[in-house]
Amino acid sequence: MNSNKNTHKGLYIKNFGCQMNVYDGDRMQEMMSPYDYGSVNSVEDADLVILNTCHIREKATEKIYSELGRIKKSLAGKGRKTTIAVAGCVAQAEGKELVKRAPIIDLVFGPLTYHHLPEILKSFENDKSKKKKAIIDIEPPDNDKFEKLPKRLKANRNVSSFLSVQEGCDKFCTFCVVPYTRGVETSRPYSEIKNEALELIDSGVKEIILLGQNVNAWTNSYDKMDFADLIYELSLLDIKRIRFTTSHPNDMNEKLITSYKDIKKLQPYLHLPIQSGSNEVLKNMNRNYSSSEYIDIINELKSVRPDIAISGDFIVGFPGETEEDFLKTQEIISKIGYAHAYSFKYSPRPGTPAGQMEDQIEEKIKSERLSRLQDEIKKSMYNFNKKFLNKNLPILVEKETSTNYFSGRSPYLQSVHFQSDNSCIGNIVEIKITKVNENSLSGEILH
Ligand code: SAH
Ligand code: SF4
Ligand code: F3S
Repeated sequence: MNSNKNTHKGLYIKNFGCQMNVYDGDRMQEMMSPYDYGSVNSVEDADLVILNTCHIREKATEKIYSELGRIKKSLAGKGRKTTIAVAGCVAQAEGKELVKRAPIIDLVFGPLTYHHLPEILKSFENDKSKKKKAIIDIEPPDNDKFEKLPKRLKANRNVSSFLSVQEGCDKFCTFCVVPYTRGVETSRPYSEIKNEALELIDSGVKEIILLGQNVNAWTNSYDKMDFADLIYELSLLDIKRIRFTTSHPNDMNEKLITSYKDIKKLQPYLHLPIQSGSNEVLKNMNRNYSSSEYIDIINELKSVRPDIAISGDFIVGFPGETEEDFLKTQEIISKIGYAHAYSFKYSPRPGTPAGQMEDQIEEKIKSERLSRLQDEIKKSMYNFNKKFLNKNLPILVEKETSTNYFSGRSPYLQSVHFQSDNSCIGNIVEIKITKVNENSLSGEILH
């Protein structure tokens, strides 16, 4: 969201990690608006700094400490009292350890407690003792966070907006910290989601991206709805496009698959991580599916929606991964023909079973496998994009990147750039694709 110069106090939020953190960061900003906080773009201008952190890999966690070091330096000698808060998954996982290592921190709260922010900020500010003590608020509360958050703000909305519908995870993949940082799997009630969607639509949003750690596990026993029903109901609202992320292969059912045929607003793009192509590795990861079961799901999807774009996540160098296992992962890329994929070196995480496994893979081998895999992914992304050369695509225009230059997204989530004399933000325009590379497309607007 843009900065707001009419407010009296500066709020600087930096989000790390996944889209759920981006969503949470937006909600924190909206929550502080009635308290006269407006967003600023630098730590120096801020009265409140929030680092909204990610714990998924070691690098992500270490980033927070270097960021805190930078903040300390940039505030040194300025004589301004800035409150420093750490939110997100590192806050949840490390709690008071964070403050021990970085005493500059004043507030620590997690993904399940950020709705307490105005309250704990006030109590921190009202602390009259000479040496203010950091407040740590990470105990999962029994109230519904979303119910306590204010309505979505109308101002400065993007064309496309995230909407969290599900949080937490009970799947306990052996490598992953999410079940420990985001808590148990919970689904927001349908009525709450619908109201939030209506608020977003009212402020000009044209595309809603439903979010959850396992978004397709969303369910509502009260209304007897599952995730496919939720998409159907939301598609009846005045919205142009619907997407969702991230899905788990084990929560893909027939009904959700056929939604790709029946619900026109549901875009033909699915992020469905497989993690590894080797059944042995999948078993050790506790993913509870085989590579052929995953391929069957994709084939079913392609049979109802032949043009569907598939995206995925991969981990290389999981404990015990052999060269043979790795080659099975390489093979999956071309078999599926991914439109997009993220790939990571396995990072041992505290408290996870895989972190304790023997036969951890050497860093050098992990790096080498990652680079081979990424070459394969790049090829796949280029091959996917190449198919659209000289074809027309309906683009939902998101922003003006420079004067008369616009960018938007295709149904397949490709980033598409073009020139236009008229502002067309929020519209779907027809673009003839004239140039492609692995990351984006460009073309000409058809009048
Ligand atoms: N719920 C989603 C993934 C959420 S985490 C799913 O099950 O697919 C996002 C991605 O981070 C994962 O898909 C995985 O590829 C990666 N990841 C998670 N833990 C990791 C670790 N310890 N090391 C490296 N990558 C990891
Ligand atoms: Fe993590 Fe696995 Fe849950 Fe995804 S399904 S969030 S990878 S534990
Ligand atoms: Fe990171 Fe937490 Fe998201 S660990 S990936 S910010 S759920």
